[in-house]
Amino acid sequence: MPKPVTRDEERGTRILCIASVWGLFLTACNITVAATAPDGSFDNSSCISCHEKHDNELVRAWRASVHGKDKPVADCVACHGDSHKGAAVKARQDETCIDCHGDVREPTVHSYASSKHGLILKLEKKEWDWTQPLAQANYRTPGCAYCHMHSGEHNVSATVRGTDLLRENSKEIKSVQDATRRVCQDCHAPRYLSRLFENGERMLAIARMKVREAKDLLLQMREQYTLEELDAAAKQYEKMQSVHLKNVYLGIAHQSPDYQWWYGQPALDGDLLRIKGAISELIRIKSANEKQKACSPGGVGDKEKTK
Ligand code: HEC
Ligand code: HEC
Ligand code: HEC
Ligand code: HEC
Ligand code: HEC
Repeated sequence: MPKPVTRDEERGTRILCIASVWGLFLTACNITVAATAPDGSFDNSSCISCHEKHDNELVRAWRASVHGKDKPVADCVACHGDSHKGAAVKARQDETCIDCHGDVREPTVHSYASSKHGLILKLEKKEWDWTQPLAQANYRTPGCAYCHMHSGEHNVSATVRGTDLLRENSKEIKSVQDATRRVCQDCHAPRYLSRLFENGERMLAIARMKVREAKDLLLQMREQYTLEELDAAAKQYEKMQSVHLKNVYLGIAHQSPDYQWWYGQPALDGDLLRIKGAISELIRIKSANEKQKACSPGGVGDKEKTK
């Protein structure tokens, strides 16, 4: 495998220099000098204004991402530090992302940490050469940035579909999958990946079906019961959507069997059972109340009896 060209080798700055000797004649010479990164430290606006000149695409990609949009939530300094010393090496390692994306128990991070990729990285990362670009299988397994910032892609949003997991937007899924496939193909065979992606979408469709079943049930019950009566079931439904459906998605996204098969699908089955249980209980209480009313003096049944 050819060793990838580093940024410094690839790029040079053409400098037009005009030398004057004794003020008698001028020589125009055209020499190529490797652009060297100046010593820091810098604040974020300095990083941007200097890099905008020669890395315009990179800065634009960052601005298009959730990290750099409107009010930046992750700026250059957050990932690279405030100087050039070890700037890329620091940014490539998981700790940089995890600092912001929650600790190891936070589902986004934990779903990755419990995957085969995450386990191998954890065991071997100290021996890896982190000066290598995140491409061409320079690492044995991918960390956060290998997948989300492959080949220096600074738009992390390009690898993530929209946030409404109940909505199926095939165009959006396709563009995210194309970006993802380019990453996985560094190490896995295309046919294996196609099968994996298909299985993933199927699994997500099944999870969505469970959430929809719960929603339909609640809507049906709403015709006979108050919001207050349906509170427990509605809370369970909310958890289905915001926690357990997301776990299935993260299990597929980060290839974590635990999130697919433990925190995901079975948790959704449990939610659905609990919602059905809460509704049966409501029905039981209501019919018991009605019976009681019917038997108590002054009740409908009483009047009927005296007729
Ligand atoms: C005055 C101009 C200037 C400023 C300010 C500046 N840089 Fe750079 N930076 C460069 C040049 C020149 C290079 C080397 C050529 C290249 O890689 O584009 C470079 C290289 C880099 C690299 C690649 C290093 C590598 O090992 O591949 C990173 C990352 C980087 N800069 C981040 C930053 C960050 C973050 C800041 C702000 C804290 C910053 N730069 C501020 C000019 C600047
Ligand atoms: C300074 C904090 C910070 C750092 C550092 C950071 N992120 Fe983020 N990231 C955020 C915030 C805030 C969001 C948006 C809200 C959320 O999803 O939590 C976000 C969103 C994302 C998204 C979702 C994009 C979308 O469109 O929904 C991805 C993927 C991501 N980050 C990956 C990374 C990776 C990979 C790294 C490390 C190289 C990293 N982040 C480092 C704060 C950070
Ligand atoms: C979410 C973390 C994150 C943020 C924010 C971020 N970078 Fe990076 N950056 C990285 C990672 C990771 C790499 C290494 C990519 C690789 O090895 O392919 C990198 C690489 C670079 C490089 C080297 C480019 C290359 O392809 O080798 C430059 C230059 C750079 N970043 C500048 C910036 C500037 C300027 C900003 C602010 C506008 C910025 N970065 C914001 C994570 C980040
Ligand atoms: C093997 C590649 C890979 C690795 C490694 C990886 N991700 Fe992801 N990540 C994905 C894919 C694929 C998706 C889902 C894309 C889609 O279909 O929306 C995703 C989704 C996400 C999301 C959006 C969902 C959410 O929770 O908001 C975030 C944020 C995220 N990853 C952050 C991280 C962080 C942080 C790490 C490291 C702890 C990491 N990823 C490691 C591939 C990866
Ligand atoms: C840098 C190389 C690399 C990249 C990139 C990569 N993987 Fe992997 N992947 C590995 C290695 C190594 C293993 C562990 C193989 C083994 O020992 O079973 C693995 C394991 C897996 C497994 C578990 C297989 C099993 O038998 O348990 C799945 C699923 C997987 N990868 C999917 C993906 C997907 C999807 C992507 C892209 C989002 C991806 N990988 C990107 C190297 C990579």
